[in-house]
Amino acid sequence: MALNSSLVGTSGKVTFESPSNIALVKYWGKYGRQMPQNASLSFTLQNAKSITTCEYEVLEEQQEKIQLTFNFEGKENDAFANKISKFFLSIEDIFPWIRQIKFNISSENTFPHSTGIASSASAMSALSLCLCTIHEKVAGKLDDFFQHASMVSRLGSGSASRSVYPHLAQWGKHPNISNSSNEFAIPFGDEVDEIFKGFHDDILIVSKKEKSVSSTAGHALMDSNPYAESRYKSANENMSLLIKCMKEADLETFIEIVEREALTLHAQMMCSKPSYILMEPNTLEMINRIRKYRNETKIPLCFTLDAGPNIHLLYPAKYASKIDGFIDNQLIEFTQDDSIIRDRVGFGPQKTNS
Ligand code: PMV
Repeated sequence: MALNSSLVGTSGKVTFESPSNIALVKYWGKYGRQMPQNASLSFTLQNAKSITTCEYEVLEEQQEKIQLTFNFEGKENDAFANKISKFFLSIEDIFPWIRQIKFNISSENTFPHSTGIASSASAMSALSLCLCTIHEKVAGKLDDFFQHASMVSRLGSGSASRSVYPHLAQWGKHPNISNSSNEFAIPFGDEVDEIFKGFHDDILIVSKKEKSVSSTAGHALMDSNPYAESRYKSANENMSLLIKCMKEADLETFIEIVEREALTLHAQMMCSKPSYILMEPNTLEMINRIRKYRNETKIPLCFTLDAGPNIHLLYPAKYASKIDGFIDNQLIEFTQDDSIIRDRVGFGPQKTNS
């Protein structure tokens, strides 16, 4: 689609900061065009984020290829530029003007590159928010900006669909959640008790190594996993249970479900063909210590895991100083180089210029 000729030569710049998120009910397994096999729910984080700037210029006519340069953390990065060009081509049906724009994109993360922390959720959501802003400049207003940004983010990385809202986001059609959709995430902060908006997430880095299996490959393994169907069913059941206990601030049930979800994700990888063990011995040692500390102190802290060995320690804000002591005395020795990313539930993306 050619853009209105009056736009030719116009240019602009948009910057978005967008956070990572941590799933409480995990998405693992997909079909079709990045559709989830089960519903998922996540905390939006505050400190671990990507900051992405897109400079754009409207060209005279559509180009054969995507016109794009990409700068990551101060250096030109052709590998990322190629990935983004492919992504842009794949969403040409959504942004038919995308080959008539010259992009100059730069991005950085607030968290160190080699911490084993996946940046796809923050990076893809920041980029999609920039694209939706450019769309509004060149092609007209979107009915629901954040819903559209969530849908575009999903096409870049499924979990990124949940990064565009404050506090909590839910993604994936679920019979008990009106407005839920496989196409985009919906905001969920207002559906739970206030205590959860103050939750902390201390990310204890057990290993800074790259993931041993990419999430694309991990999702694909679910297609031949003999337990896949029962996993999808139990994830949707856990979603119903989790929503109920989060409305009621029932932390005991919250802890039980969140930890079971994390371990179930890892169990799926253990029984895939081929099978993968994504935890390290230090991950298990920390899990045992967290459970022991909880039993002894009755402090409602729990862990969750991504598809890797690092521990996310989740707890209500008022226990922060006690948990600091627990980390220093009992957990830090099991991290690589004393690495911790201290994070908490956050306010969602922010546009920092236009
Ligand atoms: O968004 P992807 O395709 O990288 O998948 C990520 C899946 C998990 O992080 C393991 C779980 C989740 O729901 O975020």
